[in-house]
Amino acid sequence: MPNAVTIAGTGSYLPEKVMTNDDLSKIVDTNDEWIFSRTGIRERRIAAEGEFTSHLATKAAEKALEQSGIPAEEIDLIIVATITPDTLTPATACYVQENLGASKAVAFDISAACSGFLYAMKIAKRMIETGAFENALIIGAEKLSAFVNWNDRTTCVLFGDGAGAAVLRKSEEGEGHILATDIGTDGRQTHLLNIPGGGSACPTTIENAAEGLAALSMLGKEVFKHAVTRMKNSANEVIARAGLKPEEIALVIPHQANVRIIDAIAARLDVPNDRIFVNLHKYGNTSAAAIAIALDEANRTGKIKPGDKIIMVAFGAGLTWAAAAIEW
Ligand code: COA
Repeated sequence: MPNAVTIAGTGSYLPEKVMTNDDLSKIVDTNDEWIFSRTGIRERRIAAEGEFTSHLATKAAEKALEQSGIPAEEIDLIIVATITPDTLTPATACYVQENLGASKAVAFDISAACSGFLYAMKIAKRMIETGAFENALIIGAEKLSAFVNWNDRTTCVLFGDGAGAAVLRKSEEGEGHILATDIGTDGRQTHLLNIPGGGSACPTTIENAAEGLAALSMLGKEVFKHAVTRMKNSANEVIARAGLKPEEIALVIPHQANVRIIDAIAARLDVPNDRIFVNLHKYGNTSAAAIAIALDEANRTGKIKPGDKIIMVAFGAGLTWAAAAIEW
């Protein structure tokens, strides 16, 4: 029998600086009414100069470790899900390992955009199930403010910075555990949402530096359509595999990209709005960090209690999607 795997602690960290929609209207031609009515976002957090993705990740991880009661030295595996790494190499997870003093942990990053935290959860779960590792730290962390084009009002209003983390370990008798996970990819849609420059396909050069190619580019309407279908299917997949009925679901934590996408998913899953977790009005879309931050907020504010069945579901560039069903 594979080991059952539980979430022993969660943590999150949001940079101090708040950027409101009104603040944004001084940078690009936009306004609070447009942004809020189309997305549900009121404000987002922006990391300070000198505050990198690894710093956000470390702060979230420290809180998750503290809640789990597992010291950093006993962590075997650190996975950082991010599309905004400190450096292309080494992995952001390596900086986090050093910051935490988690010297025995294997540390690496994964790039699955907004689905990254749930991809990391599936990988870590499998590692613990097989007995390869005992304690894993999974982190979603992003400094998207460094990768948005601040002249492009169609994208810069959507994103924010932040980090969330969870500690996974073998579940003891009577504890909750991860019931089911699902991950998927459609590589035919890479053009819908990407950062075209800064990689080997288009390295930043003196000639192209001013074109802002190392910034997020998106076909918003197309992304919207795929997001609803893929998230609905992925959530239903884990709901079925976990043998849950809609009325048994205490909370759905969807990716925090757009409240209209969230409403569309809620309607299709037949779960009432008061059981759908939303915090994107405060943080915007923090990509891989979004579900991790939301999970921590739901946990620390008592929105989820031991025994509750919760669903997390995400969607992002790739295109990627992922879901998890958990008994808390
Ligand atoms: N402020 C004011 N006007 C804006 C604007 C802004 N920030 N951004 C775009 N507009 C304008 C457009 O220029 C366009 O004007 P036009 O009609 O004169 O050409 C108009 O608003 C409508 O733009 P459109 O792109 O059709 O809006 P939309 O209803 O599709 O909403 C998104 C745009 C981005 C909010 C929406 O497509 C969306 O949420 N997509 C999903 C994005 C997402 O969640 N991505 C992350 C997935 S992980």
